[in-house]
Amino acid sequence: MSIRFENVHKAFGTKKVLDGVSFEAGKGEVLFILGKSGMGKSVTLKHIIGVLEPDQGQIFVDHFEVSALFKGEARNQLPKVRQRCGMVFQHPALLDSLTNYDNIAFGLKTPQYSEKIGRSLSEEEIKRKVHEKLALVHLDPEILGLFPNEVSYGVQKRVSMARTLAPEPDYLLFDEPTTGLDPLSTSSINSLISELSRKLKVTSIIVSHDMACALSIADRILFLDQGKVILIAHPREVVKSELPLVREFFEETLSLLPPGWSPA
Ligand SMILES: Nc1ncnc2c1ncn2[C@@H]1O[C@H](COP(=O)(O)OP(=O)(O)O)[C@@H](O)[C@H]1O
Ligand SMILES: [Mg+2]
Repeated sequence: MSIRFENVHKAFGTKKVLDGVSFEAGKGEVLFILGKSGMGKSVTLKHIIGVLEPDQGQIFVDHFEVSALFKGEARNQLPKVRQRCGMVFQHPALLDSLTNYDNIAFGLKTPQYSEKIGRSLSEEEIKRKVHEKLALVHLDPEILGLFPNEVSYGVQKRVSMARTLAPEPDYLLFDEPTTGLDPLSTSSINSLISELSRKLKVTSIIVSHDMACALSIADRILFLDQGKVILIAHPREVVKSELPLVREFFEETLSLLPPGWSPA
């Protein structure tokens, strides 16, 4: 179970965003993608779930070649790939007209999910799963009856994570999960991501510009710059890198790391 990019190119008009990107996230790996704003991090994630079609190159999710699912009959396979990938967006993206419970339960009621498990779940089973995921993200059951706009932004983020986790995806994709959060909530979401990645043993790709978090929880960190992968390495190697962009990220981060910190 892996996600693999092979020489992926993508341009929008004359703007080259991905310029020969290759990497692999292996089974159970926690891979961080770091890069400055506008460097194609979100574009990379969108290629994994088949929202964007590459101009050139191949993308594999397990044995599915996502990059080949854009034409004719093959399109029917896209929901299967998306079913495997749980995406957590920058903003919670919950449905305001549904309670938090129904938001979390949403993915358990889709035809793709029923197809995956070979049957549909009873209300009782759905309820059990909703409560199980709620516990994973450390939320109190009393928020289930409320609507998203009745809970704080931090709680909405957790609800949206529980919703993503509900159908038990094989991959977790996070796009800047802590953007817009205060430092305390940022650190609690970061520890949650780390805990989930280890506990659920799923392959996780986390797009971030939070290098402190990357250094403490990533198996490997990938740096994306000017459309290219300039480094993909274990945090131990990353802190030794002399690449200017990596140094820049690291200098910014030093003040955020606990005294005496060293990579695991
Ligand atoms: N659908 C699109 N159409 C045109 N340009 C796009 C589209 N999606 C992204 N871009 C451009 O591609 C570049 C990379 O975007 P993005 O991946 O969102 O950056 P980031 O690394 O901040 O996530 C940006 O310049 C953005 O404007
Ligand atoms: Mg982005």
